[in-house]
Amino acid sequence: MKNVILAPSAGFCFGVQRAVDMVDQEIARGKGPIYTYGPIIHNEIVVRDFEKRGVAVIEEGHDLSEYEPGIVILRSHGITAKVYHDLEDHGFTLVDATCPNVLRIHRLVEKYAREGYHILIIGNARHPEVEGIIGWIPAGSPYTAITTEKEAEAFTLSENDKLLVVSQTTFNYKKFGQLVEILEQKGYDITAVNTICNATEERQRDAYEIARKTDVMLVIGGKNSSNTQKLYEICSRECKQTYFIQTIDDLDVSVLQSIQNVGITAGASTPQKIIKEVQTNVRNEF
Ligand code: F3S
Repeated sequence: MKNVILAPSAGFCFGVQRAVDMVDQEIARGKGPIYTYGPIIHNEIVVRDFEKRGVAVIEEGHDLSEYEPGIVILRSHGITAKVYHDLEDHGFTLVDATCPNVLRIHRLVEKYAREGYHILIIGNARHPEVEGIIGWIPAGSPYTAITTEKEAEAFTLSENDKLLVVSQTTFNYKKFGQLVEILEQKGYDITAVNTICNATEERQRDAYEIARKTDVMLVIGGKNSSNTQKLYEICSRECKQTYFIQTIDDLDVSVLQSIQNVGITAGASTPQKIIKEVQTNVRNEF
C-alpha cells in the first residue's frame, strides 16, 4: 500500500463552498428558472451536476433577452459592475455569491480610482476575476494588469500619480512580493494591499511542502481553474513527477509503479468526493 499524503487545505475554499451552498438553497426553494452567470465554479463536474438539477448557465456575453427572467446566482469570483446592472435591467433577481474577499477588491479599486489613484492589478487580465475587478474601476480611470517581473520593470507611472496595487486572490504570494518590491524600487507613491486570500496562501504552502518530499505529486482540479494551474506550477518545481488531473480517470496509474510516496493537493473548486476517489484509488494501487 502506498503512503499517500493529502494536503489538509485541498478542496473547496470558504468562498466556493458558500457559492455552491447558495445554488443548493435556490434549488431547494424551487422557484425557477435558476441560472448562474457563467459556470458557478471552475469545475465541469459540479456545473454538469447542477445542470441536471435544473440550473442553467447564462453564457457570458450572450444577449440577456434570450433568457426568461429568473434567479441568477453570481459566481464566487465576481462579475463586472456593467453585467451586474445589465442583469438587473433585464429583470433578473440576483443572488450574489461573490466571495467577500473578492468584493473587498471591488470596493478598494472603486474607492482608490475615484481618489485619482492608478490601479495596478497583479493578476491575469483575461481571468474572469480580474475582468470583474477591472469592471469596478470607474470608466476613464487608469489601470494596468501585470503578471511578470518584466512587466513590473517596464511599468511607468506619470509624475505625481499615486498607485494602488492589489492582487488577484489566487496569485502566487511569493511572486506578488517580488513584483511589489520591483515597483517600490522605482520610488513611486505606492499603496500595496495584499489581497491574496489566506486559503490560497495556505493551499500553495501546503502543496510546496508536500511536493518537496514525495516521489509523485497529483494536483486535482478543473482544467480552467487558475488556482489549480498555480498549484501545478509550484509542485512541478519541487517534484519532477507532478500530474494535473481532473479525476482519477485522467491518471495513468502505471506512473505509480514502484513509487512509495504520493502527495495529493486540489484546487479550490474540487469537490471532496473527487479527492477521496483519487486518494482511495492511489492508496490501493499495486
Ligand atoms: Fe474566496 Fe479565496 Fe476562495 S477569495 S473564493 S476564499 S480562494
